[in-house]
Amino acid sequence: MNELDFSGKQVLVVGGSSGIGNGIAQAFRTKGARVHVCGTRAKASDYSAEEGSHLEGLEYSQLDVSDAHAIEQFKPSFDRLDVLVLTQGAVIYRRGEFEMEGFRKVVEVNLMSLMACAIKFQAMLSASKGSLIIVSSTAAYHSTMGNPAYNASKTGAVGLTRTLAEAWAEDGIRVNGIAPGLVDTKMTKVTTANPKRLEGALERIPLRRLGTPQDMAGAALFLASPLAAYIIGQTIVVDGGLIL
Ligand SMILES: NC(=O)c1ccc[n+]([C@@H]2O[C@H](COP(=O)([O-])OP(=O)(O)OC[C@H]3O[C@@H](n4cnc5c(N)ncnc54)[C@H](OP(=O)(O)O)[C@@H]3O)[C@@H](O)[C@H]2O)c1
Repeated sequence: MNELDFSGKQVLVVGGSSGIGNGIAQAFRTKGARVHVCGTRAKASDYSAEEGSHLEGLEYSQLDVSDAHAIEQFKPSFDRLDVLVLTQGAVIYRRGEFEMEGFRKVVEVNLMSLMACAIKFQAMLSASKGSLIIVSSTAAYHSTMGNPAYNASKTGAVGLTRTLAEAWAEDGIRVNGIAPGLVDTKMTKVTTANPKRLEGALERIPLRRLGTPQDMAGAALFLASPLAAYIIGQTIVVDGGLIL
């Protein structure tokens, strides 16, 4: 038996339009799954490979998860779901998270929408005895000085992962998480595109390289597979040693 064969499985990656979520989506597709992704733009052709978006072979829908009503109203094109991966995430730089408007916006996307999406698909995941994977961040485990909302929301995501896992175990839904370290995506260009900052960042990573969406995908495939059948409520840190 190949435990990492997802043939016949339906996967949804919210935030799968780019970066980490997109890498996870393509990994499930490579392993045989039918994969649907959501992002903020109107259509798949609004994304480009240069920004870290590879939408070939994936089904795409627009869904703005900062709008709770939009999540409730979302009509998926599938009626069965085996794996739900929640990778949506936002950050506001230049002290925008010290204003309540910015703080609320980030918490809405990074935390509130996790619960809204989880509830939305609970029945489908229960029917399939499926798996929910929440992408938080190593930022959940230390202060992130300029980004109070990012920190609070990601810490909340780790707690939500534990509690939903315990609550939904009886429904046969396994809930787990991934906490990425520093991954090269459009979200982290502010660091990775600046040679001095990049050098400083790499010095703090024992493996001496940035993470890739594929590194994150390895953990996602494992967590969704029967290899992880007895693991619930855990957030796996995938960071090349950054927070060791
Ligand atoms: N990169 C890192 O170093 C790192 C480290 C730790 C954790 N993370 C987390 O990993 C996740 C993925 O981030 P990434 O680095 O891959 O960045 P990214 O390429 O910017 O991806 C973020 C994803 O979230 C989606 N998104 C943002 N706001 C949304 C909204 N209001 N409604 C729906 N979707 C929304 C984006 O859609 P669009 O494509 O339409 O913008 C995109 O698909 C995030 O939760 C992030 O916090 C990243």
